[in-house]
Amino acid sequence: MSGIRPTGFLHLGNYFGAMRNYVRMQNDYTCYFMVADLHALTTLTDTKGLKASVRRVLAENIACGLDPEKAAFYCQSHVPETAELYLYLNMVALMGELEKTPTFKDKVRLHPGNVNAGLLTYPVLMAADILLQRAKLVPVGKDQEQHLEIARNYANRFNHRYGGEVFPEPYAFNFGEALVKVPSLDGNGKMSKSENQMATLYLADDDDTIRKKIMKAKTDSVVDPTAPMPETIANLFLLLRLVAAEDVIQQFEGDYAKGALRFGDMKKVLAEGMVTFIAPIREKAASIENDEAYLRQVMEHGAAKARERAVETIRLAKEAIGLIYY
Ligand code: TRP
Repeated sequence: MSGIRPTGFLHLGNYFGAMRNYVRMQNDYTCYFMVADLHALTTLTDTKGLKASVRRVLAENIACGLDPEKAAFYCQSHVPETAELYLYLNMVALMGELEKTPTFKDKVRLHPGNVNAGLLTYPVLMAADILLQRAKLVPVGKDQEQHLEIARNYANRFNHRYGGEVFPEPYAFNFGEALVKVPSLDGNGKMSKSENQMATLYLADDDDTIRKKIMKAKTDSVVDPTAPMPETIANLFLLLRLVAAEDVIQQFEGDYAKGALRFGDMKKVLAEGMVTFIAPIREKAASIENDEAYLRQVMEHGAAKARERAVETIRLAKEAIGLIYY
């Protein structure tokens, strides 16, 4: 089970860090992937753009290979059992634990004018998403590990307090390979949704934008190819590895070792590789996004699958708590 926040455009880092793993998992596991529209409300006060964001994130994930026939793919707000479990979990959620969560402190700093209780209980809602499906594996990045620890605490506290082993412990999941790092084009960290847009390749970028961004990518000039490779150049090689064939990479590596690498040539090859990779995803996503009837069918089908298990979980939880009176 995993959740995707419907904020911002998806980029190459999302693809190689998350979406590609979802697509692999859907063949081997019973999967629940959800658009976290309720979580978006913790920071979003102007909700006019929500509909477009939700449709886009659905379309982009499907264009990347997420198959709504294999996995349950749904919107959080279409599964009202989430809200019910959220209420029950609030009784095992400790204030102190929530107040010291680093993501809460970050958000207080970023949104000082809107420190609402939903922000504080963000991890409770996320635990509700996970525990509602009684999920054991949660494909998420490092930044979500604290939230998963909280979800495990709630599962254990609930089971211990009310009895009846309702919830298994959920753990962060990846395929055991080093997580793919997708560096930004300006030499500053990873590609990100919110920071420098020129340094990030979005799945919605048109061909010329992709080319322009790559041709402008930062490259330090190399004085000595036997010294450690400057990070900006190592980054270009990392990006090239994502989209180029092995012999192409080896040729540029050979040129580099001889001190004869022409960055312009390498960037051109990289740009064309990225265009070839991104263009079909962009086009597919655009056509899905405009297909009102198909998206509706995906959302209804996904919610039905998610609710099947959710209704059962709520019954088990209520039984354990002692909320069944007849
Ligand atoms: N908090 C997650 C994020 O910021 C999104 C999310 C919401 C999630 N519910 C979830 C992730 C349940 C995994 C499981 O990316």
